[in-house]
Amino acid sequence: MTDTGILRLLEPSALADPHPLYREWRQQGPVLWDSGIEAWLVTGYEEAFTTLRDAETFCQDWRRVGVDTPPALLSLQTLDPPEHTRIRKLMLDGFKAAGPGRPAEAVRTVLDERLALAEKEDDGFDFVRLVAEPVALRAVTALLGVPQPDRDWFVPLSDTIVDGMDASLRPETYEPGVAARAELSRLVSRWAGEPLPDGFARHVLATAPDAGVDREVVLNSLRVVLQAGFQTASRFLATGLLTLLRIPPDERVVVDTDKAVHELVRHSGPVHVESRACVRDTVLGGRRIRRGQIVSCFLGAANRDASVFPEPDRLVWDRTPNRHLGFGRGPHACLGAQVAVEVARQVLGTVGRRFPQARLLAEPVPRPNVTEHGMYSLRVSF
Ligand code: HEM
Repeated sequence: MTDTGILRLLEPSALADPHPLYREWRQQGPVLWDSGIEAWLVTGYEEAFTTLRDAETFCQDWRRVGVDTPPALLSLQTLDPPEHTRIRKLMLDGFKAAGPGRPAEAVRTVLDERLALAEKEDDGFDFVRLVAEPVALRAVTALLGVPQPDRDWFVPLSDTIVDGMDASLRPETYEPGVAARAELSRLVSRWAGEPLPDGFARHVLATAPDAGVDREVVLNSLRVVLQAGFQTASRFLATGLLTLLRIPPDERVVVDTDKAVHELVRHSGPVHVESRACVRDTVLGGRRIRRGQIVSCFLGAANRDASVFPEPDRLVWDRTPNRHLGFGRGPHACLGAQVAVEVARQVLGTVGRRFPQARLLAEPVPRPNVTEHGMYSLRVSF
């Protein structure tokens, strides 16, 4: 039993559109306790913003509340300042070493190839497999400056890691997620033994010792960039395109500005939940949060909080200001947001310009993921 009915998030209708349930929770208050999964659910914008920003009170490094973390999980995603600050700086320098043009150029090439294949498909095609996944994988490996893994091996492994992020709702996903992460780590360790071209991974591996960052943390963090970058970028291309295709062709806009992409991320971004543990007793949204309790920020819900975003369910392409939480906030805010926006601008902008009559051929089947939304396939005709 749960107080909020959180397991309803796994029902097909909620996987396709969780916003009715989010609205129901928000009406009950911005912060609700669920005794089934023993966590606070945060759906209010201000409360989610505060949680993500305040790393002194709400931690990503759960060792601070006595939870044992295996070394394989220590990365820029699971450390807090000051350790986090060192690895984050190292990774930011990696982004600079890659140069902004590299992923953009790689995307242009792979997008041309994939759209040429799409145009040959008279009966429509699956946008996820044919375009979103290949483009996202090419973008993130070009950014990292590493060889591209075989897609048929990598994608299912990577999906298993995403499944494991919902282990509090689907406990059976935990062990396969741990095993998949370990397998991906073996790939990253191989990069470290190979001569890599100039770029992100090479720079980070070479400068880590002087930056005083543990080698395992560096390797885990490179794994995080590969995993987070591929999954979020490919899932967003699909969730974003689906939203656009639901608009009648004569009312559609071409999403080729940063502003338009940010509005699409606010409205249809793939990352719906980010959790923290409370380090010291505090009050959030009028509720007393105790040390050690889990606080799950529902970014998808916060991004439709009407007290911050007027007409939150509507796409307002020039929405200003648009301080959405789709890329997170605070010390752990998305490191790849600029790359993600660039990839989405290129892909969704090109599709919008070249295929204004694009249409959906079937209702997509959503993946059973609550934390990071996605779909098995998106059948479309250009
Ligand atoms: C539309 C696409 C994307 C979305 C919606 C997205 C969303 C997010 C969010 C919400 C977080 C915050 C996690 C937290 O608070 O714990 C995050 C962190 C992160 N993202 Fe993204 N992301 C996207 C694309 C990318 C790309 C393309 C990359 C890499 C190339 C990337 C790399 C990362 C990394 C490394 C972190 C962890 C940062 C840290 O913990 O310090 N993301 N992302």
